Amino acid sequence: MSPEQLSQALLRIEASPTTAMTDRATELREQGRDIISLSVGEPDFATPVHVIEAAKAALDAGDTKYTPVTGTARLKRAAALHFERDLGIETNPKTVIVTAGGKQAIFEALAATVSAGDEVIIPAPWWVSYPQMVRFCGGTVVLLETRAEDDFRFQPSALEALITSRTKWLLLNSPGNPTGAVFPAEMLRAIADILRRHPQVMVLSDDIYSPLIYTGAPHATLAALCPDLAPRVCTVSGVSKSHAMTGFRIGVATGPAWLIEAMGRLQSNTSGNPASISQAAAVAAFEGPQEFLASWRERFRARRDLVAAAVNAIPGLSCPVPEGAFYVFVDAVPLMGRFADDNALALHLLEHGVAVVAASAFGGKDGFRISFAADEAVLEEAMRRISQALA
Ligand SMILES: Cc1ncc(COP(=O)(O)O)c(C=O)c1O
Repeated sequence: MSPEQLSQALLRIEASPTTAMTDRATELREQGRDIISLSVGEPDFATPVHVIEAAKAALDAGDTKYTPVTGTARLKRAAALHFERDLGIETNPKTVIVTAGGKQAIFEALAATVSAGDEVIIPAPWWVSYPQMVRFCGGTVVLLETRAEDDFRFQPSALEALITSRTKWLLLNSPGNPTGAVFPAEMLRAIADILRRHPQVMVLSDDIYSPLIYTGAPHATLAALCPDLAPRVCTVSGVSKSHAMTGFRIGVATGPAWLIEAMGRLQSNTSGNPASISQAAAVAAFEGPQEFLASWRERFRARRDLVAAAVNAIPGLSCPVPEGAFYVFVDAVPLMGRFADDNALALHLLEHGVAVVAASAFGGKDGFRISFAADEAVLEEAMRRISQALA
């Protein structure tokens, strides 16, 4: 066996650069270096106690066997409740699938539908895995550029200019990783007007950060705002970010019955059911108290303000104040004369004790992403190190 035997599909993708940076930071830490990692996308809060208790109870009750492939009836009901209560999307357990993280849901939706030559429009900067998944499936990534001065929102007319007869999907992620951009209801309605003229285009709405909006505005999502389009929208959500459950690996998706069935068909032949214990924990997450989310949101808002203010106070760096998620996308264009590219800049910051991810990993350029899912004192120290590294 040798690497020449790798498939064409595999050769089209590379390992996730966010994971690569986190691994490098861990490696340096193991060598005794003091590294603050702001490269990973997970809340630092502890998983809520009632969720942990539900996982323990499932173990004690012997819930340790296969479950139905696409999720237990109980969790599908809880997920349908979540879609209706939290996102305003009418659904039922039959059009819900439970997956091993939101990531698997997105991959399955794409793998079930994208054939060679199909085009997928992705607003950039994008979450690292979207283009990789599209390429793995043989699809063509169509980049829809957004800019910091527009708060990383695109003009609906720019979207329409990219639509062709081969366009299969538009990917929407609001609140977004890596920019924290939030798409308001009026923007989604304008997008809907365009989509009504192009019935071949489906929409994958990745709402995994939906509780994390700092403007006070309610979360807006296409399938809820425009029910006439719901038959061609797949909405992905989960508990990883909202309930600090990244390690449990539970995601949920809802969409047209034919697509959910196709995703299940794929899942039945690849991974099988998501972990039984994690499913029991996710039931508790969706059905249990949600009040803690408001206090987490407040903590995140304070951290966002701290980091955005610190970035904008460092000569050569700037960022818009993100409206959602837990990322700040930093522009470092004025500094690029000093570094070969933004990877070199990120490595320079790593040498000074802070791990961030270069903008180019996200289809952006000349900057980097900071995750502010860390304690305030840690963030203050990280920003002090960044400031010193660039002085
Ligand atoms: C935009 C976005 N979508 C999906 C995911 C996947 O989440 P999960 O850990 O549930 O697979 C992430 C995680 O980083 C994300 O940032």
